[in-house]
Amino acid sequence: MTEVLDPPAQAAPQPRVNRRLPAHPVVAIVGATGAVGIELIESLTARDFPVAQLKLLASARSAGMRLPFRGREIIVEELTEDSFAGVDVAFFSAGSGISRKFAPIAVQAGAVVVDNSSAFRMAPEVPLVVPEVNATALEAHDGIIANPNCVAAILTVALAPLAAAQRIRRLNVATYQAASGAGAAAMEELRQATGAYLEGRPFEQKVLPHPYAFNFFSHNAEVDPLSGYNGEEEKVVAETRRIMGRPDLPVGITCIRVPVLRAHGMAVTVEFEDALSVDEARRALVAAPGVRLVDDREANHFPMPVEASGQEDVLVGRLREDLGDPSGRSLALFVVGDQLLKGAALNAVQIAEALIGR
Ligand code: A2P
Repeated sequence: MTEVLDPPAQAAPQPRVNRRLPAHPVVAIVGATGAVGIELIESLTARDFPVAQLKLLASARSAGMRLPFRGREIIVEELTEDSFAGVDVAFFSAGSGISRKFAPIAVQAGAVVVDNSSAFRMAPEVPLVVPEVNATALEAHDGIIANPNCVAAILTVALAPLAAAQRIRRLNVATYQAASGAGAAAMEELRQATGAYLEGRPFEQKVLPHPYAFNFFSHNAEVDPLSGYNGEEEKVVAETRRIMGRPDLPVGITCIRVPVLRAHGMAVTVEFEDALSVDEARRALVAAPGVRLVDDREANHFPMPVEASGQEDVLVGRLREDLGDPSGRSLALFVVGDQLLKGAALNAVQIAEALIGR
């Protein structure tokens, strides 16, 4: 008699966690006292995010400090391994080391982590999300969602509508990056250095490596001695490719730190597969979410940090044909966005909104 065997057990496909958030989540902010942390608190208020309860976490140095939220004061607590009990969503903005150690602990405790550090941005199982560009990447995650590098977030908001109108073949980007990207202490150093310069006093830089008042310099991230590119440039290239779903997109880049407090600028040239006219590009940008076209040739009025600071929209303008490409397939543009908002806090809150289904 032939023995009938059960068919070999198939390895059951591992369901990925598909965590959404409750309509009124308990929210924690790790790094609440930092430049991005403060903006996270502001963005939750500005966007009327349905916070059931807010927990503010920072280092032991800040424990006991009070920060305002919706007419009340919340006492900052020291971040510990027990901080995440009952938390539904935790925004992390206290650097990669803290994220690496505490994000898995938060997930274990049942929270969804929206991480503003670079710790998990290139991990294949962690979606890297700009909601206007690739919100569908949020459909499956294992509890951690990465918030992109500030330049990559602002740049991709401006590029997505153009890429939808015509496939991009190649990019070249030169950035003009504000102090806020290096944290609250760098912003304060810019203020102090400028005051000292104007009063003719000597000033010793402690946060950034070069004189900052009335000066600019190559981005302070470490430089790879072989390639000559710095860590910021490497992040922008890798993350822009990932967010846009174009892993091989050629991107040339130079990142510069300029003496501006909180809005990053970028001069971008885009080569398309086929020509996209300036008018077509304008129409695509006007219709795009999160973009404001600022492109008045007559008044010589284009995107500026003073007009982008404190604004949710990314400003895009100076649209023109790139004369460096005689084929006529390239456009030049200038983009400015608030580094602390679309470049960090706002994008993180928008991710959480998408997880609620708002
Ligand atoms: P603290 O103010 O207590 O040092 P920024 O990017 O503006 O420099 O802010 C960094 C944020 O990360 C701050 O809120 C800072 O808190 C927080 N942070 C730094 N180190 C730690 C730590 N070891 N544990 C918790 N939070 C930390």
